[in-house]
Amino acid sequence: MEQKSQELIRAEGLCRTFSSSAGPVHALQNVNLSIPAHGLTILNGKSGSGKTTLINLLGALDYPSQGKVFFEGREVSALPERARDKIRRTRIGFVFQSVALISSMTALENVEFGLRVAGCPAAGRRERALECLEQVGLSKRAGHLPQELSGGEQQRVAIARAIAHRPAAVFADEPTAQLDSNMGLQVIAVLKKLIETQGTTVILTTHDPDLLEIADRVFTLQDGMLVSGQEGGEPA
Ligand SMILES: Nc1ncnc2c1ncn2[C@@H]1O[C@H](COP(=O)(O)OP(=O)(O)O)[C@@H](O)[C@H]1O
Ligand SMILES: [Mg+2]
Repeated sequence: MEQKSQELIRAEGLCRTFSSSAGPVHALQNVNLSIPAHGLTILNGKSGSGKTTLINLLGALDYPSQGKVFFEGREVSALPERARDKIRRTRIGFVFQSVALISSMTALENVEFGLRVAGCPAAGRRERALECLEQVGLSKRAGHLPQELSGGEQQRVAIARAIAHRPAAVFADEPTAQLDSNMGLQVIAVLKKLIETQGTTVILTTHDPDLLEIADRVFTLQDGMLVSGQEGGEPA
């Protein structure tokens, strides 16, 4: 079901409670938000504020304790795991804080493998993978294994893999947190370029206030609650 407003994701009354030896942890409490397609949405907040918990719920990696998540108009929080798995593989791209590339595969093979997992036909996979490596500025590193790449380059391969199947949204949980600031800037520049030239939709978490100015919209979490969600400039 397509939404007129081009709303991509909606969260209604989201709560996530974890049980721990010290009792229940209310990681998210009554979060309501709407994220349109296109542009860069940042989920911001201090460490422990609930960013990872929220992005995992929005990306259908986790189920809420209460509340609903809609993705492209479908209530993914009510779907069985099998249906969610298909949505994750085909409609979503993930970039994690610790780069999760397959160490025995080259950069190109990693991106091609992502296309295979997404169910893309074999013909055309290599070409598309090369195109995506070019979009992240790594054509010349296509034949390199992950350990032959810098941390920033590895993360850019992960981005190429996340966009290759043309997902409706790319979720990135603190993609620069384990990089030095120069490599972090390169990764952000690549994401910005993809948003501008390919119309990619990126939802990114960060605790870095310096990144907020490049966002089209920012939602700020504090102790599991959304304390602000102001609209930024119009996406390019
Ligand atoms: N699996 C878990 N079990 C218990 N508590 C958790 C679990 N995951 C996260 N939490 C707690 O939930 C809160 C939010 O965590 P998280 O979403 O990881 O925050 P952030 O990503 O902003 O650093 C923290 O207090 C954290 O300790
Ligand atoms: Mg986190």
